[in-house]
This record gives sequence, structure tokens and C-alpha cells, in this order.
Amino acid sequence: MRKNVKPKAYIYPLPVLIIGTYDENGTPDAMNAAWGTVCDTAQVSICLSATHKTVKNLLKTKAFTVAIADDKNVIPADYVGVVSANNVPDKLTKTGWHIQKSEFVNAPIIQELPLVLECKLVSYDMQTEICIGEVVNVSIDDGILDEKGKIDLTKFKPICYDTDGHGYYTLGEKVGQAFYDGLKLK
Ligand SMILES: Cc1cc2nc3c(=O)[nH]c(=O)nc-3n(C[C@H](O)[C@H](O)[C@H](O)COP(=O)(O)O)c2cc1C
Repeated sequence: MRKNVKPKAYIYPLPVLIIGTYDENGTPDAMNAAWGTVCDTAQVSICLSATHKTVKNLLKTKAFTVAIADDKNVIPADYVGVVSANNVPDKLTKTGWHIQKSEFVNAPIIQELPLVLECKLVSYDMQTEICIGEVVNVSIDDGILDEKGKIDLTKFKPICYDTDGHGYYTLGEKVGQAFYDGLKLK
């Protein structure tokens, strides 16, 4: 039996994105964002509340990074989602993360996070609170790559956010091959 429930954007799985910026003093900030996705081959779209320090920062620097949180970074990834640099300007100190500046944009790379998209700000809409970024470089720890240079999900364990139960989960087993399995029905 199916059930009708209160409308909510139940998109599964949601990513756990860590958005990195620098403030006006060059102090790094990062926040957790689950409402983000791809909107072109090298563009990302993320819904970011205008009240966040991150948004104030990226509007000034015109740049940000998007790292994909993994199973080794659950605690600091959640921490940056519950503490704001509006109240704790040096909030990243407690994470233990090591920061290096991107060579391509004025935004921080968190060394512990193996996959980081370095983005130039394309637009931020105050009404929709949607931020669009152009990915100008991708910084990858080669420890998560296979012998062909592709991202290996047996080495890299991105986490997902459960919008209903609020849990963080890793992905499960590979169950198919895109652009191939469906051909069986063609
Ligand atoms: C699991 C999780 C997902 C979140 N997703 C978003 C999001 O998509 N957009 C958003 O604006 N805030 C989101 N937040 C809230 C921000 O991460 C949080 O308010 C953070 O403290 C803002 O930091 P800042 O003020 O230093 O930028 C999320 C928090 C958590 C824990």
C-alpha cells in the first residue's frame, strides 16, 4: 500500500558538500551543504542561505571550493554544518583540517578531503539563494584513483545525507552500468 505524505523535496541520495571560502581577513571558512548538484558539465548549483558567512565571503571573493565529504571526515563535516563563522570566525581550527590556498581561485582547499572542485562564482540570486559556480580546476588526491586515473569508489567513500532521518551514509555496492544495462530492453 502506498501513502501520501507532506510535500518535501525528498531527493535521494543527497551529497554532503563542504563549501570553502575566505573571509575579509583571509581566514578560511567552510560549511556543510546538502542542497547542491550539477547544472552543466563544469558548473555546480547549490542552494545557500544568504545569512551564512560563506555567502558573504563568496560574494566578496567571487570564489569558493566544493569538496565532497567522505567517511573519514564525518565529524568535522557535521561540525562545519552546525557552527557558523558569523559567531566563531576561526571555526575551522577545531576541525584539525589543514588548509592550502587554491592556485586557481581565492578559496581554500581542505587537504584531508580528497576531491575538491575549485570554482569561480558565476551568480548568486538573493531571491532563490541559488549559487552557481564554474569549476575551473579539480584537485584530487591520487590515492582515490584507479590505474586508469578514474575515481575509484572502492577507495573513495563519499557520504550522503538522509534528509528524513538526518543520518550520514556511505554508498552501497555497484549494481549496474550506466548507458549499458538499459540497452537490454531496447
Ligand atoms: C547535513 C547538513 C546539510 C546542510 N545543508 C545546507 C544547505 O544545503 N544550504 C544551506 O544554506 N545550509 C545548509 N546547512 C547549514 C549550514 O552548513 C550551517 O548553517 C553552517 O553553520 C553555515 O556556516 P557559515 O555561516 O560559517 O557559512 C546544512 C547543515 C547540515 C548539518
